Amino acid sequence: MTRAQARKRIEALGAELREHDHRYHVLDQPTISDAQYDRLFRELKALEEEYPDLRAPDSPTQRVGSALRTAFKRVPHVAAMLSLDSLMEADEVRKFDERLRRTLEIERVDYVVEPKFDGLSVELVYEDGVLVRGSTRGDGEVGEDITENLRTIRAIPLRLDDDAPKAMRRGTVAVRGEALMPIAEFEALNKRLVEQNEEPTPNARNAAAGSVRQLDPAITAARRLDFFAYDAAGAEPPLPFATQREMLDALRASGFHVEKNVRHGTGLDPVFAFHTTLLERRDRLDYEIDGVVVKVDRRDWQDLLGVRSRSPRWAVAYKFPPRIEVTQVMDIAVQVGRTGKLTPVALLQPVEVSGVTVSRATLHNQDEVDRKDVRAGDTVRIRRAGDVIPEVVEVIRDRRPRDTHPFQMPRRCPVCGARVDRVGAYHLCTNGLACPAQLQAHIGHFVSRGAMDIVGLGDKTVRQLMDAGLLKDLADVYRITPIDLAGLEGFAEKSIENLMAAIDASKRPRLDRFLYALGVEHVGATVARLLGDHFGGVAPLLDASEEDLQAIHGIGPEVAESVRRFFSSARNRRVLERLRAAGVRPVVEKRPKGAQPLAGETVVFTGTLERMSRPEAQRKAENAGGRIATGMSRKVTLVVAGPGAGSKLDEAKKLGLAVIDESAFLARIGETT
Ligand code: IVH
Repeated sequence: MTRAQARKRIEALGAELREHDHRYHVLDQPTISDAQYDRLFRELKALEEEYPDLRAPDSPTQRVGSALRTAFKRVPHVAAMLSLDSLMEADEVRKFDERLRRTLEIERVDYVVEPKFDGLSVELVYEDGVLVRGSTRGDGEVGEDITENLRTIRAIPLRLDDDAPKAMRRGTVAVRGEALMPIAEFEALNKRLVEQNEEPTPNARNAAAGSVRQLDPAITAARRLDFFAYDAAGAEPPLPFATQREMLDALRASGFHVEKNVRHGTGLDPVFAFHTTLLERRDRLDYEIDGVVVKVDRRDWQDLLGVRSRSPRWAVAYKFPPRIEVTQVMDIAVQVGRTGKLTPVALLQPVEVSGVTVSRATLHNQDEVDRKDVRAGDTVRIRRAGDVIPEVVEVIRDRRPRDTHPFQMPRRCPVCGARVDRVGAYHLCTNGLACPAQLQAHIGHFVSRGAMDIVGLGDKTVRQLMDAGLLKDLADVYRITPIDLAGLEGFAEKSIENLMAAIDASKRPRLDRFLYALGVEHVGATVARLLGDHFGGVAPLLDASEEDLQAIHGIGPEVAESVRRFFSSARNRRVLERLRAAGVRPVVEKRPKGAQPLAGETVVFTGTLERMSRPEAQRKAENAGGRIATGMSRKVTLVVAGPGAGSKLDEAKKLGLAVIDESAFLARIGETT
């Protein structure tokens, strides 16, 4: 490479890395994997080492950390929060070890090897044993104050345990560790998001980061996060621990979660062995880890080795190989979900990605396919996003064969042949309950808990009954006879009796559960309750216009459109009629006498009220049957905003909540002036 070429490349890499830094740290929306980022970063570092005079003072290699978000107060750290150099190859680890032995002039180094958590690093400051502040890493010197959010994490002690060494409970002590979202929690969160038709989070790290940076601590609290501690530093006097291990023990005694999977050993053999063990076990752990951290055990040696600008000389991250593989797209298939949404799926030449064979990868929607220009026949890089859902990262363009065609969503449903409509980013099969793919998912939802709750009618039985031609729509559930079941594999007298009884018992569902069970797009349990409360029965819903629907507080245009579309479909109406004929009668719970205009609403007040005090307004809302919330969360259904309303109002708009002013509030509770 010539000098001119190097200059160009250094500039390009700098710009690219800055862009990725911004996406990762500020937007929480990375577009490349950590491994890809590391590769770019190392390339830049190597070039700068070769041409030191070409290194820009603001080069990404010269920074300790990342850009800062602005929504939170900035707080300085007790001491700089360093990062770790990442190594990918065993040889690099050997070089690291050699350098240490040379500097320390010893034969063998004692190491502690810990899992490298893939979460969000956090500093917790304790004054005389009491938590006073918690912050993100920020740029390493100054972080964001997220104390209130961190207080909601149960694994973070608000006061250090009495068993903690005295030194931990005296003066200022900074505990560092990682806030994490357990994988089970991450999967549950994504399931909820998908059900609410929102974008799933790409991985547990982003989910954890997003959760602790909520403006409303209630949201953080609702996401069950964990915290693992791995470092403690006393400002003055320094903590008296001789080794890393002693420090971990002290953290554990103080009440922190400290990873049990930690190895101690002399020389590199235990390091390599533990790296291999954890790599194998990676998919069975409760948390995402992306490598191991190798640390010099003795603290006096740590001090002797010291730190560079960005990272300590006494520790490195020895990363796992990325979970990205190259394979070929054999074809692009289209799946049909419960609400009729068509999802393009890449059918792959099966390939193993960190121990799991992957043969399909979601392409999300047409826009996503267009953006990546994925075609049948392409060679692609795939990754297990969040290391769970496989996804196509990018197409390797120079391996594209001739005669490929851009992918186009079908105009007809691949399962039932009905017309497909495009609504926003999505393509929808217009056949509703008559489409077998939708039907199976629909019936599954219809009979599930929280809906009609028919015990004993699981996915397998639904499939069996559909295959036998016994279930063509939701209403057929109530036409099943003992004789039908007797012909099916796995049904004995007792199980037939039980299922028939369960079906019969489900004929008097609560109205809101019945509406939820119908599986109308955007109608979850909450919206179903609003609809039930407002209409008091199924019949009035059949003729509700979008305007009528939008008049209900908590229901916006998108939901209204979807509800109107569902109930005006002739096919859906026939099913409803047949359900009625089969004896299904939703029941409306009687309300206590006296108007309760805010029943079912959770109300937040924000900004200044002009005609009454805040407590007075809250009492009025409660008397009208409403519940009061002080912060924004998913539970909130109604926001009363006065002049000067700030972040809560922005948040409410973002969540699509109903916002009214003071006089509209008074009108709703029947106090018109
Ligand atoms: S020690 C000076 N130990 O990895 C020592 N860090 O890429 C610095 N991390 O910012 C940290 N697991 O957020 C340490 N067991 C562990 C870790 C760990 C994850 C994170 C930490 C750090 C980043 C560096």
